Amino acid sequence: MSAYAAGSAVAIEPIETKDLSAIASLHAVCFEDAWRLPLLRRIFSVPGTFGLSLRQDNEIVGFVMCRSSGGEAEILSLGVAPAARRFGIAHALMEATIILAVKRSLAALFLEVAEDNEAARRLYEVLHFHQVGRRPAYYRRRDGPSVDALTLRRQLAARDSGAP
Ligand SMILES: CC(C)(COP(=O)(O)OP(=O)(O)OC[C@H]1O[C@@H](n2cnc3c(N)ncnc32)[C@H](O)[C@@H]1OP(=O)(O)O)[C@@H](O)C(=O)NCCC(=O)NCCS
Repeated sequence: MSAYAAGSAVAIEPIETKDLSAIASLHAVCFEDAWRLPLLRRIFSVPGTFGLSLRQDNEIVGFVMCRSSGGEAEILSLGVAPAARRFGIAHALMEATIILAVKRSLAALFLEVAEDNEAARRLYEVLHFHQVGRRPAYYRRRDGPSVDALTLRRQLAARDSGAP
């Protein structure tokens, strides 16, 4: 992890029910279409759902939520507090997710990203995700035209396990 961690206590941990309220607040500042607490509770009640949070000085500043099914996992959502961006937090969360997925013997990760989301697309490119599909006009924007979703996929291998 990068300079953001310097001098502060940073921890990546599994998301627990007690964290969902903080994650709902963070989701609301990350996305136009916020996932509120009741929805997050429903999401995490579905079997196969798991997530990681990144705490800095005991405050959750980043999260990733996933759902495994059929030997693969979908990244449902990923967000980092605006003030904490560009310090490697999303990258660290995604790397930890990859390691966790390999430990769970999952074969691949996949996700959907808005075509106009340059930051996320660059992040996934760095993490070796590749485009495998497109959903036209999938994301409705409050102000402006709908945007296509790109489906990205990242094959997993034993070498992604994080082991030296
Ligand atoms: C996308 C998002 C999760 C990135 O989080 P982050 O912690 O700032 O990302 P990182 O610092 O780990 O960035 C890792 C790499 O991704 C790329 N990247 C991240 N943000 C970028 C930006 N604004 N512009 C261009 N590239 C970017 C860079 O390659 C970066 O490496 P670098 O800083 O060494 O150049 C964050 O901007 C966010 O929460 N956005 C709103 C929610 C969202 O769009 N989520 C993804 C939905 S699919």
